Amino acid sequence: MTLDNLLNKDLKFIFFGGKGGVGKTTCAAAAAVWYAKNTNLKVLIISTDPAHSLADSLDQPIGGEIKSIEGVENLYGLEIDPKTAIKDYKSLMGISPEESLSDMSPVPLDELGMGDMLDTSPPGIDEALAFGKVLEFIEKKDEHDYDLIIFDTAPTGHTLRLLSLPDVLDSFLGKIIKLRLTLGKFVGKLKSLFGKDTTEDRTMEALEKLKESVGKAQVDLSDPEKTSFCTVMIPEAMSIYETERLITTLYEYEIPISNVLVNMVYPVIPDCAFCAARRSMQEGNLETIREFYAEEFEITEIPLFDTEIRGIERLEMFSSKLFGKNED
Ligand SMILES: Nc1ncnc2c1ncn2[C@@H]1O[C@H](COP(=O)(O)OP(=O)(O)OP(=O)(O)O)[C@@H](O)[C@H]1O
Ligand SMILES: [Mg+2]
Repeated sequence: MTLDNLLNKDLKFIFFGGKGGVGKTTCAAAAAVWYAKNTNLKVLIISTDPAHSLADSLDQPIGGEIKSIEGVENLYGLEIDPKTAIKDYKSLMGISPEESLSDMSPVPLDELGMGDMLDTSPPGIDEALAFGKVLEFIEKKDEHDYDLIIFDTAPTGHTLRLLSLPDVLDSFLGKIIKLRLTLGKFVGKLKSLFGKDTTEDRTMEALEKLKESVGKAQVDLSDPEKTSFCTVMIPEAMSIYETERLITTLYEYEIPISNVLVNMVYPVIPDCAFCAARRSMQEGNLETIREFYAEEFEITEIPLFDTEIRGIERLEMFSSKLFGKNED
């Protein structure tokens, strides 16, 4: 079984997620390379993992601005930088990036219950804002005309926060609105001190717009014709437990799951007692995985290769296990 089932749909978003180190980035990058080379879609791969390794996987620099991927026409990459997201968050609030937010309040922010949302961004907010921005890209089809966006996500816990984005953003916007109301005059004075226009404050408008695009995104993200979540795992007990948790939460957020990728399956190697022992441990777990998921999802088994999967060529080789009819 392969990921070919994804090709029957006009998907806009494909997520790859799972436990740390199981091969999420490799699968996401390989799928992105495959799509860009084998379809006429314009593909954007986005890393939402603050500990980015997408650039390492594709073996070229990427960074916080969308970059065309060398060696693959129609493929673009972006590593979302939480610091940039915080900067945007400050600018949304109409506050200069150099200002320390907590210094600006006329009353201690902790008293307002807002201490946690300043300077050190609360968990999920950086992702929420960055993701909100990405969703705006998608809406502005004429300026950012990506047909397919592939997400290389952070290990499970972090990703679950990303998926709770609409809730997070809702409460975040609520807090911001409260903060704006409290600080409104103060920020206005500060702006006039720097000679900035105080008559037109577009901050609230920008926030409302962000909220609107997140609302729209929620519709897209729960539409199985537009979104697919591929869980990546390895045939080991700990990974099975974590996948269960991930899948349960994905159901909760109504994110459509289509595929389970079981990576790093030991090949059968004659005369290797170590490999045979690993293989037999994995066989038991593979049975469990098939029992759990075969009815609902497409299961793709990917062998453990004897090399690191790095650079376009190797990713392409890896992708031959993801797409096209293969021996599995
Ligand atoms: N099937 C495979 N055979 C051999 N090596 C692999 C395979 N899959 C992944 N790797 C290697 O394993 C390492 C971890 O893979 P990868 O970075 O894709 O995992 P990840 O789940 O994204 O990790 P993280 O949770 O840190 O983001 C990489 O060095 C990658 O090249
Ligand atoms: Mg990764």
